[in-house]
Amino acid sequence: MKHFLNSHPDLKYIFFGGKGGVGKTVLAGMAALYLSEIGRKVLLASTNPVHSLSGLLMEDVFGKEKKVSDTNLYALEIETKEVILKKKGEIREKIDWFLKYADISGQRTEDFIESATMNPAFEESAMFEKMVDLMFEGKYDIYVFDTAPTANARRLLGMSKVYTLWVEKMLSSRKDAAELRKKLSFSQKEEQDPLLTYLLNFKERIERVHGLLTDDNLTAFFFVTLPEALPIAVIKRFIGWFKEFGIPVGGVIVNRVIDKSLVKKDAPEFVLNRIAMQEKYLAEINSSFPNVRGILPEMDKEIRGVALLREAMKYIF
Ligand SMILES: Nc1ncnc2c1ncn2[C@@H]1O[C@H](COP(=O)(O)OP(=O)(O)OP(=O)(O)O)[C@@H](O)[C@H]1O
Ligand SMILES: [Mg+2]
Repeated sequence: MKHFLNSHPDLKYIFFGGKGGVGKTVLAGMAALYLSEIGRKVLLASTNPVHSLSGLLMEDVFGKEKKVSDTNLYALEIETKEVILKKKGEIREKIDWFLKYADISGQRTEDFIESATMNPAFEESAMFEKMVDLMFEGKYDIYVFDTAPTANARRLLGMSKVYTLWVEKMLSSRKDAAELRKKLSFSQKEEQDPLLTYLLNFKERIERVHGLLTDDNLTAFFFVTLPEALPIAVIKRFIGWFKEFGIPVGGVIVNRVIDKSLVKKDAPEFVLNRIAMQEKYLAEINSSFPNVRGILPEMDKEIRGVALLREAMKYIF
């Protein structure tokens, strides 16, 4: 990891992805702590709706950026409630404007808004919006994101192609509508089209974040796996998708590897069997991924609190 970071001095957005429970939060915590200790101003932010940074750091960082005690690190669990409310408001405004001349009652608008906002994808996109806000704000040297296993970034980038096509189509139809309205109205005064303004902003935002997230000087996604079949299969799939979208993959980190040198031959069969299993998958990892950046051993306790993070950090950095 040190070598990777040294060869990417402009890195600004670091992500950790992988199957559920493999150690993404722990590794994001370590990376952020390490970078803050070599003098960078770092924000560790969670975009996983099931947050666990407060649990990891043993401090409440929900909803508000906070400096973590005994460190120079800032941490935040992104809250989506206010974004969702704001988005609901925006949607309501647009629908009302759109239906201004149609004979549709207010209650129908509310139903519309409820159905548009009561789905998990809406929360996911709200999370992504907040993440993008943080990225654009640029208050920190480096942002380390602890992501959900679903890797929302990949999904949004995949969707950005569709969005772009859709936005372009909408833009041209809004322009046609404006032309027609002008022709039909007596006044030549141009009415502001809030939908058009929104679409233009949205398009610009998507293009900008796409530019940042596909720049391999600025962005790196790391994938965490265990030496086991299922998490390996998950990251193989993720890495394939990311490459397809041109998102830079920083490499793979293998977690919870039992240190063989500590285990005697007469150890319980259970332990020896696990070691044999891990060896088999480590060989598979080495042949499948040319970019393994580190191996974190199985610790004798859970990794919680700054002191333990610092201790475990030495294996990776
Ligand atoms: N090398 C390790 N040794 C011992 N315990 C570990 C190790 N790595 C992670 N853990 C523990 O495993 C649990 C899961 O780790 P973590 O929360 O980082 O996973 P995650 O991938 O973020 O999970 P989720 O998908 O739920 O977000 C935690 O309790 C953590 O302390
Ligand atoms: Mg986590």
